Amino acid sequence: MDNIETEKIYWAQVVSDRWNLSGQYKILNSEFDFNFELIQSNGSKFIVKIMRLDCEKSFLDAQVSILEFLKKDQSELPIPKIIKSVSGNSYELAADLNNYERIIWVLEKIEGIMLSNVSPISKNLMLDLGKKVASLDLASKKFTADIDPPSNKWDLTKPLWIRDNIPEILDPELELIINEILDDFLNISDRLNHLPHYWIHNDLNDQNLLVGFLSNGQAFLSGILDFGDLSKSPTICNVAICSAYLLILPGIGLNLQLEFLRGYHSINPISEEELDILFTLIITRLAVSYVNSSIMAKDKPDDPYVIISQRDSKNFLWHMVKGKNFFTARFRNICDLPPVKGGSEVIEYLNQGKVGFHPIIRQPLKDAKIISLDLESIIPIDPHSITQSEAINLTGRSELESQRSINLGKYLEPRLIYTAEDFRLGAGKNSDRRTIHLGIDVFAPLGTEIFTPLEGDVIHSEFCDKPLDYGGFVVIEHRTPNGISFFSLFGHLDPKSLRFKVGERLGKGDLIGKIGSASVNGGWEPHLHLQLALGLGQENNWPGVCNPDDIKFWSQYCPNPATLLGINPGAITFRKIDKNHLIQNRIKSFAGNLKLSYKDPILIMRGFKNYLFDESGRCYLDFYNNVPHVGHSHPRIASLVNKQLRLINSNTRYLHPSQKKLSENLLSKFPSSFEVVFLVNSGSEANELALRLAKTYTGNKDFVTFDHGYHGNTNAAIEVSPYKFKKPNGIGKQDWVHVIDCPNEFRDVDPRYQITKILNDIQAQGRSLGGFISETFPSVAGQIIPQPGILQHIYEEVKVAGGVCIADEVQTGLGRLGGYYFGFEQQKILPDIVVLGKPIGNGHPIGAVVTTQEIAKAFNNGIEFFSTFGGSDLSCLIANEVLEIVDDEMLGENAKQMGSFLEKGLVALKLGSSLIGDVRGMGLFWGVEIIRNFETKEPGTSEANYICNRLRDKRILVGLEGPYENILKIRPPLSLIHDDVKIFLSAFADVLEESYLRNGT
Ligand SMILES: Cc1ncc(COP(=O)(O)O)c(C=O)c1O
Repeated sequence: MDNIETEKIYWAQVVSDRWNLSGQYKILNSEFDFNFELIQSNGSKFIVKIMRLDCEKSFLDAQVSILEFLKKDQSELPIPKIIKSVSGNSYELAADLNNYERIIWVLEKIEGIMLSNVSPISKNLMLDLGKKVASLDLASKKFTADIDPPSNKWDLTKPLWIRDNIPEILDPELELIINEILDDFLNISDRLNHLPHYWIHNDLNDQNLLVGFLSNGQAFLSGILDFGDLSKSPTICNVAICSAYLLILPGIGLNLQLEFLRGYHSINPISEEELDILFTLIITRLAVSYVNSSIMAKDKPDDPYVIISQRDSKNFLWHMVKGKNFFTARFRNICDLPPVKGGSEVIEYLNQGKVGFHPIIRQPLKDAKIISLDLESIIPIDPHSITQSEAINLTGRSELESQRSINLGKYLEPRLIYTAEDFRLGAGKNSDRRTIHLGIDVFAPLGTEIFTPLEGDVIHSEFCDKPLDYGGFVVIEHRTPNGISFFSLFGHLDPKSLRFKVGERLGKGDLIGKIGSASVNGGWEPHLHLQLALGLGQENNWPGVCNPDDIKFWSQYCPNPATLLGINPGAITFRKIDKNHLIQNRIKSFAGNLKLSYKDPILIMRGFKNYLFDESGRCYLDFYNNVPHVGHSHPRIASLVNKQLRLINSNTRYLHPSQKKLSENLLSKFPSSFEVVFLVNSGSEANELALRLAKTYTGNKDFVTFDHGYHGNTNAAIEVSPYKFKKPNGIGKQDWVHVIDCPNEFRDVDPRYQITKILNDIQAQGRSLGGFISETFPSVAGQIIPQPGILQHIYEEVKVAGGVCIADEVQTGLGRLGGYYFGFEQQKILPDIVVLGKPIGNGHPIGAVVTTQEIAKAFNNGIEFFSTFGGSDLSCLIANEVLEIVDDEMLGENAKQMGSFLEKGLVALKLGSSLIGDVRGMGLFWGVEIIRNFETKEPGTSEANYICNRLRDKRILVGLEGPYENILKIRPPLSLIHDDVKIFLSAFADVLEESYLRNGT
């Protein structure tokens, strides 16, 4: 038996004697102590801690004292509960195997994984962390016991010990930075010492924070561990320590740390005084941490890990130190203060306009037209790539008009015109992008002179010559009468017209420069970009547009410059569509069973190809919508609609060449037995009509269909849709409807024997068959491709029994399957009636029923068939255009190629994941079945839901399908490209690695 096993047995006996606890022991990693996990037979879990040899009792007394106080004061705090021994002690002393005295204590185990191991670290989790740390601090304020823990090097009020150890650091540049940080600390130490001191946790690092998961995958802070570094300090030190570790965690970044601050502030408000010193405390803690690890690494000078981490820390610390004002501005903003001290005074000063601004341009602006460049403006046509001609004609005015009139562009407007790389905050098209305009545009003639509204010093002047950049750019620093600085920014000037030097003072009304032409202003229609800023740009970066996620900060950091122009700020500010308002209205005005997709529904304002754009211009990869078959907002369809609605859009009681065009084109895609086309408005209407055709033709009503199928929302369509009628409050099965299992290779379901039985039963009852209706590839049932031969067999039996076979190809038709134009071709079957819907109109409502002359003739029984909108001139033209685009752009071929790339990726993911049970599909019609267990194939419904919502968070839209809603449904527009498949596969791979899926369920 090895030593550790002997120890385990020994200590298990001690714990059993002193605590009367026994069970399975598991050894836990620990640097100095012996830690075990004890699991009792009833499932209760404990942590047994055998403290290191030299552990002082005062160390334990302090922890026990505060933990017991906090637990008593606020039992819901996620901190460990101490289990008392049989003698009522919080810890016990016992001799170890070598007869040395050790301290032992037992804690209730808190379930969770370390924050450092959690992925993703979400905003919600950070908010929860902030709230719980704040609650801990509030409770700790009441803890006044006289404790005396040993002093420790992590006391943030006393970091100066590291100065003496700086020579230990290998890198002299790092030494310089650390000295700078300590000097900064000395500047705030008085203020820090004047704040009230309490016993605080003092080591809220990512290894001491545990995270748990709710059943829907939402992460929460489940534990705050290790009170061993307690120190009597202001509570802002706890905030700083936790922030420091969050900022260096890979994948956290400032935005998540800010969410922690927001949560904290909402429970234990952070004062302006505390915010003033927060940044310095954060970097001081980082400095202490880096020096400490360098001291520890001294023993291993050649360890490459240590050298790399020094280089990384140097870069990181530099970045932090240089960003001090900026970080502080962000902290202030998240805690509901103006981002810059004195910011409100600047706004007041500007709003009062007492100063009397000098006009920025000579022309009056009072009657200038305010234009829109937002998501409803259709500029640019391709939201990922503005063309030169679009950029030089943003206002859409003629040259003459632009000489005569001034147009103004809005403040805080979301725009898709910023398509250059520099506006992008990630590699993929769906990554974050800066879209929100932070200034006002003044579209005035080329060469218009621009004057300073107020006196000030030119602090920055640059020629930003990249496409879609500022061109000639100037920043002027002004001051309020009380000496508070603020800045005005002037972009798109002609660099040659800037005649001053940086540092020069300009008087009120002095000429700054002239509006530049597209060749020197970034390629835009001539205009001035005017912006205000309360603080300096970060590292001389002065963004004119921001990420919509950061709008709260930027709109305060760069307030509306309207008053500088003497125009009404309200009129020139973009009015954002309020998503919550829309949701509320929807709840009020629409039936509750009209569901919205995703936990966080999406408001979509634009679409292009496979991309969707929300109200702020965030881009989503559309892997779900099959209706925009040839891509969202296809320009050919858009211009056709535009033209036709100016000509005529009438109905099928009149002749129009579009009818011939469509019917001929459509029939050319079918086997020769199909000769007649009926045009309606939707898939539901088409199925309704198909059932009528079949019933009229056969004179029989009985229909067979697959389980879980869906054919639309009309009465008859619902009656043959088990997906609807079988639901708890559904209409139930009609006696003329006969349901057979849906084929499913993965779950080994083959309904062939059922069809024979049902047909025999119908016959035995003296009835005859109307027919069989199914999706050729059942989609709602879970993106199924029937095993070869099954549909052939069913069709054969149905036809022999005198029934009609209806193929619902609403989801599968028109080239989606790659090698096949329709699903029935792949299944080697010949339907009598084919139903088309969704994709054929690319978003315009149109459905079609295609059938044989024989069936159509039987239906022509003297009763007129008419659908007012079905087959309108416009519908016919659009449907025909869709068919032509599929051919012209070889979208079937593209579906085949992208499909096979997608398949390879999905199959590779399946090999590496215990959650993917099946990958099935063809072309761009795919299902990924999520399961919990390979043996039982237990459906992973909550896991699939989690994946779907996480992909949505990563701005990739897929759906959920199948009887257990555990099948990811992938059905993108056929214009999909390789890069997007790659992004999807890599995002999916990342989600599969996330903590909830690996540990949380
Ligand atoms: C296979 C199938 N058939 C018919 C329909 C009904 O089409 P619509 O909603 O256009 O009426 C749908 C709609 O989801 C469908 O998926």
